[in-house]
Amino acid sequence: MDSMEINKGMAAILVAGIMFFLTGLIGMHLVTETRLEKPAIAIQGAPVAEAASGAAKPEVLPPIGPLLAKADVATGEATVKKLCTSCHTVAEGGKAGVGPNLYGVVGGAHGHMDGFNYSAGMKAKTGSWTFAELNEWLHKPASFVAGTRMAFAGINNDQQRADVIAYLRSLSHTPVPLSAN
Ligand code: HEC
Repeated sequence: MDSMEINKGMAAILVAGIMFFLTGLIGMHLVTETRLEKPAIAIQGAPVAEAASGAAKPEVLPPIGPLLAKADVATGEATVKKLCTSCHTVAEGGKAGVGPNLYGVVGGAHGHMDGFNYSAGMKAKTGSWTFAELNEWLHKPASFVAGTRMAFAGINNDQQRADVIAYLRSLSHTPVPLSAN
């Protein structure tokens, strides 16, 4: 083999290398990976993986007002029957179960049922339940009241929570005005 042949061989290898490098570069520009901040599909009751950044930031929920304005009481009632009535009664004057009766809870005191054995955390809360507080509470009970006795993970879906709150609001002779927040 003369040196000319060797040079040709070297050149071929070099060109192949450059091509390889260039296709990689082009590929990187064509395909960019974007990470979603939230999972595209929220599965009820499933634990949500923390965002890629790692640190658990306190979640800021969308304001409840607009969601309540388009909430559906009947859907909320169905959700409560499915998720809540194993522990709660809803009728006026209903007995406590594992949890307190929920009639009149919207606008009622935190720990609104006389005689119910609330957790120390719930007893320590002053004031009354607002829509915004119920929104946080039903999103993650254990974050809203540390050491709560309500063994319920929470409702991830914002509109589903609003539907439930709209239904809870209806459990009253004089429902709190929707504008109160
Ligand atoms: C496993 C039983 C259980 C389930 C399921 C449950 N709760 Fe509760 N709930 C409780 C208990 C126990 C408390 C009292 C919490 C405390 O004292 O910290 C409570 C408290 C509450 C309160 C505050 C009541 C008050 O008097 O201040 C509300 C509102 C409430 N629950 C709504 C709901 C809704 C709505 C659901 C369904 C989406 C639900 N809960 C599901 C057991 C449950």
